[in-house]
Amino acid sequence: MSEKNQSLESFWMPFTGNRAFKKNPRLVARSNGMFYYTPDGREILDMVAGLWCCNAGHGHPAIVEAIQTQAAEMDYAPPFGFGHPAAFEIAETLTTLTPEGMNHVFFTNSGSESVDTALKIALAYQKERGQPSRTRLIGRERGYHGVGFGGISVGGIPYNRKQFSNSMIPGVDHLPHTHLLDRNAYSRGIPEFGVELADELENILTLHDPGNVAAVIVEPIAGSAGVLIPPKGYLKRLREICDKHDILLIFDEVITGFGRLGDNFAAQAFDVTPDIITSAKGLTSGTVPMGAVFVRDDIYNEFMSKPGVAIELFHGYTYSAHPLAVAACKATQKVYADEGLFQRAADMAPVFEDALHSLKGEANVIDVRNYGLMGAVEFAPIDGQPGMRGAEIIQKCFEADLMVRVTGDTIAMSPPLILEESHIQHAIETLRTVLRA
Ligand SMILES: Cc1ncc(COP(=O)(O)O)c(C=O)c1O
Repeated sequence: MSEKNQSLESFWMPFTGNRAFKKNPRLVARSNGMFYYTPDGREILDMVAGLWCCNAGHGHPAIVEAIQTQAAEMDYAPPFGFGHPAAFEIAETLTTLTPEGMNHVFFTNSGSESVDTALKIALAYQKERGQPSRTRLIGRERGYHGVGFGGISVGGIPYNRKQFSNSMIPGVDHLPHTHLLDRNAYSRGIPEFGVELADELENILTLHDPGNVAAVIVEPIAGSAGVLIPPKGYLKRLREICDKHDILLIFDEVITGFGRLGDNFAAQAFDVTPDIITSAKGLTSGTVPMGAVFVRDDIYNEFMSKPGVAIELFHGYTYSAHPLAVAACKATQKVYADEGLFQRAADMAPVFEDALHSLKGEANVIDVRNYGLMGAVEFAPIDGQPGMRGAEIIQKCFEADLMVRVTGDTIAMSPPLILEESHIQHAIETLRTVLRA
């Protein structure tokens, strides 16, 4: 390590090739609107909203002011046995965005915590309603549900299984993923083929008996695995099968929530209502860590109907409904509403789609896919070195002042919802130049 980069050594970076990064760091020091700025002042166009989270763009003055004001007024309030008024107020506001009959919310600090909270609520609910045999959980291959033991167990990321195989929670099965490159490559929006993949749920239930299954969890669009859009009718079919067997359906909307798809949640965008929704990221536009789990009224009421129970759900975080997060959330939601950002995402989606799909035919491109303001370009891997091409492309993009996200050999984009047509054109032309080089 060079002397210049000595100071990078102490921080063990998450989900990062530490050695490669520290040799060639990609540092950002400031942000505003659609842009990051490097310590030496280069302006980087942010086409990922940080990490799928800064939906309101960076440094919105109303959000900044709300956080500053709150920090001066009350730094922290204990959420166990005490409360602060703004937490109740924002809970009520947020439930106006959820599907009908989903009016209760449990606060966490991240997507991972939201997922593990949702799984615990699902398991506890089955016990509460007198179905204690329902303990199994069903996730999906290529699903990403964060890094808790619950999340990695229902998730379908092979690397987690390689490192932590003996530590997964028991009783978990996986649906097949829905990435059918041979049949659905270059789909614009919802892919045509693959609804039958949902029927695999029936096979899993036949094997394990539906009476042993508590919940199914999926991302409506798998984000971290490379923007995998559900085939036509797929989510509806999952809902029907869950209904038939009285199984809870959890949508992990950590990425798809809060306008990403041009609607409040994917639940509304796809017109499929789950029983539980997990969220984080866009909840506060990434400004202060916060997560939220929304549950159907009858799930909440089941817990509240038991006499003689002091604490209905034995679960919570020191920082649940942290005052700074609540203030950030309240201001963020007001910005979304006042500036019509969810509608803006819907309006920009076709422009984004056209621009992305113009990359078809560029060197090594094997698929382009998109929905709302989520998009991906997949590349053929370099022989024997999967992931290498993707890593090279994001580095070259950063050198060309463009931030995109990479998963393996797939480049993903999920820009702030404030973006303009000129940002889209600039991003796509920069990527095109990188690919041609
Ligand atoms: C669908 C989904 N669930 C859970 C998580 C985990 O969120 P966090 O990193 O905030 O723990 C993510 C993060 O990208 C996600 O995309």
